[in-house]
Amino acid sequence: MIHTSPQLLRNPQKLRHAIQGTFDININTVDYGHIGELVDAIDDKVLDNYFRNHWQGEMSKYKYSGPALIDEINSLKPRRVLDIGCGYHEFKGKIDNIIGIDPYNSAADYEVKLLDYNPTEKFDATLALGSINFGSTDKIFAELEHAVKLCNPGAVMFFRANPGLPHDEADRPDSKNHSKWIYFYPWDSNFIVNCADQLGVDILDIRTDSFRNRLYFVWRTK
Ligand SMILES: C[S@@+](CC[C@H](N)C(=O)[O-])C[C@H]1O[C@@H](n2cnc3c(N)ncnc32)[C@H](O)[C@@H]1O
Repeated sequence: MIHTSPQLLRNPQKLRHAIQGTFDININTVDYGHIGELVDAIDDKVLDNYFRNHWQGEMSKYKYSGPALIDEINSLKPRRVLDIGCGYHEFKGKIDNIIGIDPYNSAADYEVKLLDYNPTEKFDATLALGSINFGSTDKIFAELEHAVKLCNPGAVMFFRANPGLPHDEADRPDSKNHSKWIYFYPWDSNFIVNCADQLGVDILDIRTDSFRNRLYFVWRTK
């Protein structure tokens, strides 16, 4: 946008309008020290708009990373469970001692981003089902590292990862493709193995889930 219309940078009001028209979001200020900060603010608003107003859950369609996790996690008898990016918090009341965080869904116990969540007590199990999937390799790795830090030794971490496929909204009721500006990180099993190695966790399972080619994997902290 700025390459084709550099004059936008000199006119904050026009820039705000151009951002609104392009991304369907309202940015309060475009007054940033560096263009990267503005890009981050746009990315944040795009995710907020999509997950708050358009995305619909499909938890029941996943064989491994869906309802099957209820019994699996309860059987571990965890004292504290964290659902990272819990969406509509569908496991609330079903998985024991669960806390849900999500910056873009008011059903969460805490509306906070994973990287900004620093509770005093650690967790015995975590879920990150489709929620560590947005942005650069550095951001994804930092989020994984942070999730591991929130765990007690021996904690079990359950993940569902999108291998970079855009959300196909053509088969959904609202087919305006609101997710088109979201970068879905292209997860693959190599990345899962390398990250586990760097973070010093054991891999208990990796497989393709039954729906939308998602990767299901499980780690255990040491
Ligand atoms: C594809 S949805 C999955 C929601 C839910 N886990 C499920 O399986 O139904 C991804 C979720 O991740 C959340 N999310 C996005 N960025 C996040 C972040 N930085 N920290 C925590 N959650 C995030 C979104 O708001 C969204 O609810």
